[in-house]
Amino acid sequence: MHRIAGVAFDDAAKSLRGIPYMSREQGRRIYDHVRATRPASVLEIGTANGVGAAYMAAALEANGDGRLTSLDRTTASFEPGPVKVLADAGLAHRVALIRNPDSSYNWWLKKQVVARTDAAGNTEPLYDLVYLDGAHAWDIDGLAVILVEKLLRPEGWLVLDDLDWTYATSPTLAASPPPELSEEQLRESHMRAVFEVLLQAHPAFTEFRDDGDWGWAKKAPGAPRRLTLQTATAARRRRLARALRVRLRSLRRRLP
Ligand SMILES: C[S@@+](CC[C@H](N)C(=O)[O-])C[C@H]1O[C@@H](n2cnc3c(N)ncnc32)[C@H](O)[C@@H]1O
Repeated sequence: MHRIAGVAFDDAAKSLRGIPYMSREQGRRIYDHVRATRPASVLEIGTANGVGAAYMAAALEANGDGRLTSLDRTTASFEPGPVKVLADAGLAHRVALIRNPDSSYNWWLKKQVVARTDAAGNTEPLYDLVYLDGAHAWDIDGLAVILVEKLLRPEGWLVLDDLDWTYATSPTLAASPPPELSEEQLRESHMRAVFEVLLQAHPAFTEFRDDGDWGWAKKAPGAPRRLTLQTATAARRRRLARALRVRLRSLRRRLP
């Protein structure tokens, strides 16, 4: 067992068993990252049941330091809810749960940036790690990463969840996707576009890791650009195969 102090990984995983949305294997990855980098201040965008929050908070607890702010919309309703999930895991004291009534988290991020920016436009950053797991939509998350960068301390990491998620392959949204999206927008992964088009070309981010389901970007302006591609995981292979099947179906429909 990985027990150092406070709540160990296995204790957290046991208490979170069966609750979506973060798998035990992903929990292990983010837990190990938090243990290794010892962030003082972490932001999670998209709380849901609080499973991701609990894994990160467990690592902060094992570090003996650090706080997580986890953000969701006022209308978010999950069973069990994050208050209970975090309390059951003994981690509530490490997490501030924020609910905001705005159309998306970008308005909350905007307020944070404004509050921390001087007249000359310099922003005082405050997060060492940001885990973005919200809308998975280009129009929302493309702006979110620009705002997050301003709030991220140098040497801090931004992690994008679901690099290969698409509307077309989503078990919950494929049948009734947002009507304003084109076929191409339904088919393509918005988070991969955010990662590849915005982050990998952003001057503040220079180190990247693509580990199949997550895209990692480190803020280290001026450092040499580096990209690490991890071997495709079984889950990623399954997602890619599913995306391919959807694409084939759509091509077949167009054939006379
Ligand atoms: C996949 S869940 C997050 C899972 C969580 N991070 C975990 O690891 O357990 C996505 C969350 O993003 C929130 N979300 C999605 N779109 C949003 C939007 N436009 N504005 C605010 N929150 C949003 C949802 O309410 C939901 O809680």
